Amino acid sequence: MVIADPPALTLDSVDITDSDRYRDIGYPWAEWDLLRREAPIYWYQRPGYEPFWAITKHADIRYISSHPELFSNSQMLRLNEASKLGTAARQRVRSTNRTGGDPDDAPDFIYLDPPEHRQHRGLVARHFTPRMMKMLEDHFAEMADNYVSDFADKVVADFAERGSNSAVDLVHELSAKLPVAAICAMGGVPEEDWDQIFRWTEILVGADDPEYRLPGESPSQATERIGVEWFRYNNQLIEERKQNLGDDLLSDLLRAEVDGRPLSPAEIHGYFVLLLAAGNETTRNSISGGVKALIDHPDQMQMLVDDASLVPSAVEEILRWTSIVIQFQRTAVEDVELRGQTIRKGESVVLWYPSANRDEDVFEDPYRFDIQRDPNDHFAFGGYGEHFCLGANLARWEMRAIFHALRPILPNLELVAPPENVIAFLHVGGIKRQMVRHRPA
Ligand code: HEM
Repeated sequence: MVIADPPALTLDSVDITDSDRYRDIGYPWAEWDLLRREAPIYWYQRPGYEPFWAITKHADIRYISSHPELFSNSQMLRLNEASKLGTAARQRVRSTNRTGGDPDDAPDFIYLDPPEHRQHRGLVARHFTPRMMKMLEDHFAEMADNYVSDFADKVVADFAERGSNSAVDLVHELSAKLPVAAICAMGGVPEEDWDQIFRWTEILVGADDPEYRLPGESPSQATERIGVEWFRYNNQLIEERKQNLGDDLLSDLLRAEVDGRPLSPAEIHGYFVLLLAAGNETTRNSISGGVKALIDHPDQMQMLVDDASLVPSAVEEILRWTSIVIQFQRTAVEDVELRGQTIRKGESVVLWYPSANRDEDVFEDPYRFDIQRDPNDHFAFGGYGEHFCLGANLARWEMRAIFHALRPILPNLELVAPPENVIAFLHVGGIKRQMVRHRPA
């Protein structure tokens, strides 16, 4: 039997917005390659989405990220299916009804442009400096050692009990632990509530997946439900903290003033949720994806196991390789000329970070997983500039601590099944489960 070749990819047929495809097959690497090669600034018009400029080259993403005066964050933060735009707007109205304020106000500081953005981001930035991370290094290392050792015990015990049927979920038993613990501890969230914060974040980003919803609930009802629960929880925490301000993120938000006025309750709630959610979701997925990448590349894994000094560069390569954040969007505030294309005022540009991370003009042999890659100017945390990830230092330290602690047990792990993915709003490439087991010697 002759098997026909799949139809050749063309610009007219290229599809980079089918979230089922991301979930079931993975990222559209070949499609991004084609766009970078033939149309790096491409006017993408497809049913289901408002048209946008797809930006796929590293240099262009850097340019747009570093010109917030030309490309604004305030209108639309990420690509949304056209049918969901109305739902998103209604959710914003409901949320401000709850928290006070105006639906036109920025829900959190990612939506702000300079100069306001700097003022608001600056309120919490001191918690994320390399100096602060250095001070927390030993603490992270200790937590990571404990989490990894508990995980290793579980994997061994499960194998002893179930033999070749053994299967332990890497995501919930390991990857999620340190990110949620670290950001909650920094935020001043009591330890008994960390699991709850984790569950809310899971639902917030995974509401499209029926697994995260109550029976009969729609995605927007699920988002609404946890919005109410989380707001009530924050309110209570805020009232308690006001009586006893400390050195944590929440206390800083409560003390903060911008232009002589304190933050509104809506701002405090929005910023706090942003930090807690951004702080655990992305790092968890990068850890899970990193373990898989190492298992898939045994030579690289062995190098890491043999030489602990490779942990920092391995973490950078894992960040590039996994490219967990898929895209952010900006809106042109005036007509801008880029590579001969005119982006008109009001048009959207969508920055595809994973594509930048395979740009052959920047990375030699970009599809090779190389834990010694140097230089490694990846855009996992964004293309620099105004909105560059606030938690990049934190995420790096957490990942270094986890992969350092994992080194001795990595060779004893094997994947039981492919990862189960959850693609949140085409924004984060999430791994909801990754079953692993002990590899017999
Ligand atoms: C591996 C983990 C992480 C990845 C891949 C990641 C990725 C990103 C990306 C791509 C952006 C957008 C950058 C841009 O628009 O230029 C971003 C922004 C942001 N991230 Fe992260 N992030 C991670 C971990 C964290 C952590 C641990 C926190 C802790 C709070 C955090 C907080 C934020 C915040 C607050 C912003 C918005 C910054 C602003 O608008 O000024 N992220 N992140």
